[in-house]
Amino acid sequence: DAPYLLRVTPSQLKQMNGRKGRDAWTALGGMVYNISPYVPFHPGGKGELLRCAGKDGNKLFNEIHSWVNYDNMLSACRIGILVEEHASTT
Ligand code: HEM
Repeated sequence: DAPYLLRVTPSQLKQMNGRKGRDAWTALGGMVYNISPYVPFHPGGKGELLRCAGKDGNKLFNEIHSWVNYDNMLSACRIGILVEEHASTT
C-alpha cells in the first residue's frame, strides 16, 4: 500500500461523520475518502452525500449510482485504506 495512506478502522471512520467540526469520511471499495471538500459539488446535494459519512458508503452509493466513477472523481480526496478493527497503527 502507498505509504502516504492512513490505515483507518471502522471505529475511527465512525468518528469522522461530519459533525462537531469534524470532516466527513466515507469508505468506498476499501478506500477511505474525505468527502468534505466534495460536498458543494455533489449533484445530489449535501444531505444525500452525507448519509454515507462516517461509514462504509458502498451500499448507499451503489443503490443510487453504481456507474459513477468515484475513485476518479475523488482521487484528491483519497486519504486511507479501510482495515479491520484490530489492524490500526495509530
Ligand atoms: C447524483 C457523485 C455519494 C445520492 C450524483 C452524480 C454524481 C455523484 C457524479 C450525478 C450522476 C448523474 O447525473 O449521472 C457522488 C460521489 C459520491 C456520492 C462521488 C461519493 C461518496 C452519494 C450518496 C448518495 C448520493 C452516498 C445517497 C445516499 C445522489 C443522488 C443523486 C446523485 C440522489 C441524483 C441527483 C439528481 O439527479 O437529482 N452523485 N455521489 N450520492 N447522488 Fe451522488
